[in-house]
Amino acid sequence: MAVLVTGGAGYIGSHTCVELLNEGEQIIIVDNFSNSKPEVLNQIRKITGKDFQFYQADLLNREAIKKIFSENAVESVIHFAGLKAVGESVSLPLRYYHNNITGTLILCEEMEAANVKRLVFSSSATVYGMNNPVPYREDMPTSATNPYGWTKVMIEQILKDLYTANPTFSISILRYFNPVGAHESGLIGEDPNGIPNNLTPYIAKVAKGELPKLTVYGDDYDTKDGTGVRDYIHVVDLAKGHLSALKKLRTETGVSIYNLGSGEGHSVLEVVRAYEKASGRPVPYVIGPRRAGDIASCYADPKKAEQELHWKATKSLYDMCLDSWRFTEKK
Ligand code: NAD
Ligand code: UD1
Repeated sequence: MAVLVTGGAGYIGSHTCVELLNEGEQIIIVDNFSNSKPEVLNQIRKITGKDFQFYQADLLNREAIKKIFSENAVESVIHFAGLKAVGESVSLPLRYYHNNITGTLILCEEMEAANVKRLVFSSSATVYGMNNPVPYREDMPTSATNPYGWTKVMIEQILKDLYTANPTFSISILRYFNPVGAHESGLIGEDPNGIPNNLTPYIAKVAKGELPKLTVYGDDYDTKDGTGVRDYIHVVDLAKGHLSALKKLRTETGVSIYNLGSGEGHSVLEVVRAYEKASGRPVPYVIGPRRAGDIASCYADPKKAEQELHWKATKSLYDMCLDSWRFTEKK
């Protein structure tokens, strides 16, 4: 029996595949490489010394997905595949809704047809919107400010409705905070195409000398030093959270939502200093205007995952920067 990992060649998916293989799980990866590279698959094999089945396929291609379920004994699905660039989702909303929502609908329909009822879904802290007080708890109201965020809010609702209609399903919705870092081998990590939008990939390029300086988006927020505060979580901690969720899915039916965050908030300037220390390189920056759609602070109340999944983030911001730098240096 195998775990099907959609989007397993991507950033979080590849780290989760490593942890699954290390735990002795059999896995099957499906990815269309729209935001990842085939080399990642060999890196996963190299790190773990284990092999797995791979399908290059698009979730929108129903026949290809049907074939995966008919050719394999799939026991559960971890569903990472989706488009995730907030700015792009504003200019290409239909592409985002189609890829993320239709892709999930096809996956769930084919799961039902194949009688596969266990699903872990990648949601995001973005579903807490602009109006909730921090720290965010899973029972707070959800909303979004861009099409990417709405796809997460809508898919969460679809999965809840699926469970209501079919209570033999067992679904875990994981709301990730800000994943950072890389595998300690330096063989897999976050490698966005072009100029990064997110903070640590951008800082990594500045530290390496590939970009001249970071622009800090605002220093007049109501936070410890005026810059934006976020809950950064090491991608390997995050990956391990999926194993805990999977373990729980195997013991019960239901639909549960968990924050996967550290519960700690770090400012942009704290991240800059931690990265400088970890890399031994300067990270020059200038203060610029606020970025549209940004909020002052975003961090998790991680207690529910601690109590019910027996999972907790263990790695520090410094660890995240060290591992990100190791990966960046090797590229
Ligand atoms: P990623 O882009 O690195 O990985 C996603 C993978 O899915 C890629 O390999 C891509 O090629 C694949 N994919 C996309 N659409 C597909 C389709 N239709 N068919 C087959 N494969 C497809 O992203 P990531 O950072 O690893 O994120 C994984 C999931 O976690 C996404 O759903 C994302 O929205 C969610 N998430 C990410 C973050 C983050 O900061 N990275 C935060 C919260 C939630
Ligand atoms: C962004 C997305 C969010 C997504 C998350 C994880 C937006 C508005 N939100 O969140 O939906 O779930 O990524 O992928 O895009 N910063 C700078 N300079 C930079 C880049 C970032 O100062 O060049 C600051 C931001 O203002 C923020 C912090 O760094 O305070 C983190 O930014 P980022 O990495 O983009 O993540 P989020 O904004 O939290």
